[in-house]
Amino acid sequence: MSEKLVEISDLKTTFETNSGTVEALRGINLTIDEGERVGLVGESGSGKSVTARSILQLIDSPGEIAGGTISFDGRDLVGLSSREMQRVRGRDITMIFQDPSMSLDPVYSIRNQMVEAIGHNRNIGDQRAEEIAVEYLELVDMPNPERVLSSYPHELSGGMKQRVSIAMTLGFNPDLVIADEPTTALDVTVQKKVLEIFKDVVEREDLSVLWITHNLGVVAEFCDRIAVIYAGEIVEYGTVYDIFDRPTHPYTRELLRTIPNVQRAQEELRVIEGTVPNMADPPDGCTFHPRCPDAEARCETTRPESVDGDHHEAACLVHDTQTNDRE
Ligand SMILES: Nc1ncnc2c1ncn2[C@@H]1O[C@H](COP(=O)(O)OP(=O)(O)OP(=O)(O)O)[C@@H](O)[C@H]1O
Ligand SMILES: [Mg+2]
Repeated sequence: MSEKLVEISDLKTTFETNSGTVEALRGINLTIDEGERVGLVGESGSGKSVTARSILQLIDSPGEIAGGTISFDGRDLVGLSSREMQRVRGRDITMIFQDPSMSLDPVYSIRNQMVEAIGHNRNIGDQRAEEIAVEYLELVDMPNPERVLSSYPHELSGGMKQRVSIAMTLGFNPDLVIADEPTTALDVTVQKKVLEIFKDVVEREDLSVLWITHNLGVVAEFCDRIAVIYAGEIVEYGTVYDIFDRPTHPYTRELLRTIPNVQRAQEELRVIEGTVPNMADPPDGCTFHPRCPDAEARCETTRPESVDGDHHEAACLVHDTQTNDRE
């Protein structure tokens, strides 16, 4: 049996706002095994980035982790001191952001930043850190690493900057990489290239990854398992095969319909009708019921049980993965 690297249990993250308490995460369970790639997929505002930031303990006031545990390698990250957490960030868990400017400082050369950060996180000298920087720039297919090292961020294109930030992040030698929509800001051809490079490096280094995206198509190519998140809850969890071939939750099924399809190229891009609920005042019962094509009366009052985040399961009163699996 594979080892569990991350075990998130009943995670609740809230934000105090003028319109009340926003329940951004409403009791999330999610496991990531060692060497596994898990996709976290959902519409804008569903709680993907808050999940990532909660794992890294980067929720600032007016937000807080209101409950639950995040076990990483057997240790609960919730409640670690900021000093201990600083050590975890970078050495054990790293994050690649949607916008590479989040991880690159405009006033320092790439060499300065990569050597400093890799040296610090690996606890090694400058010379060795620079060798590693070059090695990883080559891994992400940068044609002239020496020239890149001497550049400043503004001298590089968006795709190149993102590759530098991937090289830097992976050069830390982390156990877990959290990638929050790292290719969305790039144009489509560059997206594909960066994704392929990332996939290669992850395979070669046998890294565990939490890949965050609103695009189910991307996770199909890249991930082992998928967590579908809606309004701060994981509504379905399963392998890529479970999610694509035996989707159970009506939200997952709707999400699958929004994937652009070559045959439908002439049609308008499909969207799911309705909007994500206001999390300061979420609907009673199942949060998806106001938008759900299959909702029954009980869905308006009874909240489905959470998924365990380890097996194929859907948080739905009407549909059941068990019966679905037997079909
Ligand atoms: N600082 C904050 N203050 C108040 N509410 C917040 C704050 N940060 C996040 N939220 C709320 O938490 C919910 C989830 O936000 P999150 O950023 O995780 O969405 P997301 O799934 O990453 O969306 P996107 O695809 O647009 O990046 C949203 O309803 C948002 O309003
Ligand atoms: Mg986000």
